[in-house]
Amino acid sequence: MRDVLASADVTAMRLALFASHGGTNLQAILDACVDGTIKAEPVLMIGNNSKATAFERARKLGIKTVHLSSHTHPDPNDLDGATLAALQGASVDFVALAGYMKKLGPKTVDAFRNRIVNIHPGLLPEYGGPGMYGRAIYEKVLTTGASEAGATIHLVDEQYDHGRVLAERRVAVLEGDTPQSLEQRVRSVEHALYVDTLRRIAEGEVVLG
Ligand code: GRF
Repeated sequence: MRDVLASADVTAMRLALFASHGGTNLQAILDACVDGTIKAEPVLMIGNNSKATAFERARKLGIKTVHLSSHTHPDPNDLDGATLAALQGASVDFVALAGYMKKLGPKTVDAFRNRIVNIHPGLLPEYGGPGMYGRAIYEKVLTTGASEAGATIHLVDEQYDHGRVLAERRVAVLEGDTPQSLEQRVRSVEHALYVDTLRRIAEGEVVLG
């Protein structure tokens, strides 16, 4: 793998995006690559759900897409190997998980150590770990009486929502908030947070280890 982040004079890093559903974060990232905000070339999109709108968003820009899931590869070890092979086959430098609901396998995580980031719609570490996704996060925020929710970008390791936090954006909890209203407000800050973090990474402003 090229050490794309070692120097300030970087060539565009070859980016792979993973998504499972609508792909609004993926779209924001693709748009920012196209308009030059993020100095990266999106070369591959991988999804586990063949019906995901994210596939269409990637295809519209001519980006290669690959469907990999427990249907295509029932053995998790094979799925991990196929995922890694797809990334290496496309000479990917860096991976952004954008609403990807599956855990990456250990071979993929290890081969791309410090080169995979994820966006989590909650503050970490308090609102992370198994079961902490979607509405469950906002329900916990409200039942514990917390004053803030937020979104976090973190490095991906072998555990859910566990790698080093690279950036976060906090959102105040307002009187009368419901899990839905809170989710909407957090979602509305995610795109800018993800784009800005990837921009900084691509420009070597964030040291990833
Ligand atoms: C976002 O809330 C993201 O933080 C989480 O999954 C959701 C994906 O939304 N990981 P979208 O597919 O990007 O619209």
